Parts: sequence; structure tokens; C-alpha cells
Amino acid sequence: MGVTLVELNDYKKLIKQRMGEKRFNHSLCVSEEAKRLASLYGADEEKAALAGILHDITKETPKETQLQIISDSGIILENTEINSPSLWHAISGYAFIKNELLIDDEDILNAVRFHTTGRENMSLLEKIIFTADFTSRDRKYDDVEVIRKKANKSLEQAMLYGISYTIADLSKKQSVIHLDTVRAYNELVISQNNK
Ligand SMILES: [Fe+2]
Ligand SMILES: [Fe+2]
Repeated sequence: MGVTLVELNDYKKLIKQRMGEKRFNHSLCVSEEAKRLASLYGADEEKAALAGILHDITKETPKETQLQIISDSGIILENTEINSPSLWHAISGYAFIKNELLIDDEDILNAVRFHTTGRENMSLLEKIIFTADFTSRDRKYDDVEVIRKKANKSLEQAMLYGISYTIADLSKKQSVIHLDTVRAYNELVISQNNK
């Protein structure tokens, strides 16, 4: 799939209309970081930039509307998903770009869908978007420099660090943990141990 610069700019305009300034800036920063990681790891830079700009497309959409978008697309949420509203935007975002923007590139669709939970057997593009969401220029948290350094050496190491943090944080809050996140975590731990 070729994404021209003109198309990317059209998508930026659309995204700008759908969210506040802070999240729009975050989307631009994830897009830029995804493009950089794509260049570093030999993925399609245009696809990475596009998936990055689109990844939070429904994050500021009202929860009820998101549930409607999800059910209209025929997706039935699992119990853990129903109980994790912060995951809804990844699923509704996927459904929105597929059904409303008519994006048909499976890799871009999956990169948006799994950018919050992760999953087992992620593609290179999925890993790039997942990681870029942690390492983008706008991010500020204690260990951000640690994970940025890891991302420049190994996407898997950066992801393992990010997922470990997410799982610890969720369990501390006694929030449910999606099985895809646990599966991604186990896969990363096992592959690191076998190196
Ligand atoms: Fe997100
Ligand atoms: Fe994000």
C-alpha cells in the first residue's frame, strides 16, 4: 500500500478535528517516532507514519459512541474488555478506520487494534506502534529514557519493559489484565530467556 504525503496530511487534518490539542500533538509525535523506528528496523515508513497518526483516533470519542462503533462492526467484547474501558479506543479505533475511513491494510488495522494490549506474534509494524506510544517525544514519565534507549537496540526489549510496567501498574490498581497482554508478556520473556 502506498500512502502519499498528501493523504497523510488529509489524515492529520481529520485527526486534529477529532481531539484536543494535547492528544493531537501526541498523535503527531507517535507518527514521527513510528516512522523513525520503521526506518531503524526496516519497516514501511509511510505505513508506520499513518498507523501512528491514526492510533488514538477514537480516544476522545464518548464511551457510548465507541461501544456503538464496536457493536456496529460486529465485534463482541469479552468480559475483560467490557471491564477495561481504557482498551475500548483501540478496538473502536480499529473498527472506525476500517469501516469509516475504509483502510484495508491488515497490518495497519492490527497495529491500531493491538496498540494498547499487545498480543502474541505481533508483526514488525504492530511492535513499532506499540513501542512508539511509549517512546514518542511528548511522553514524560520516570523511566522514559530507559525505554527509549532500549527501543533503539531492540523493540522486544522495549516492549517487555513497557508491558512489565503496565502489568505491575494494573495489578497494583487491581484492574483486570487482558489475556493478550499476558500472552505478549510471556512470549517476550521466553524469547529473551532463550537468547
Ligand atoms: Fe491509545
Ligand atoms: Fe497513544
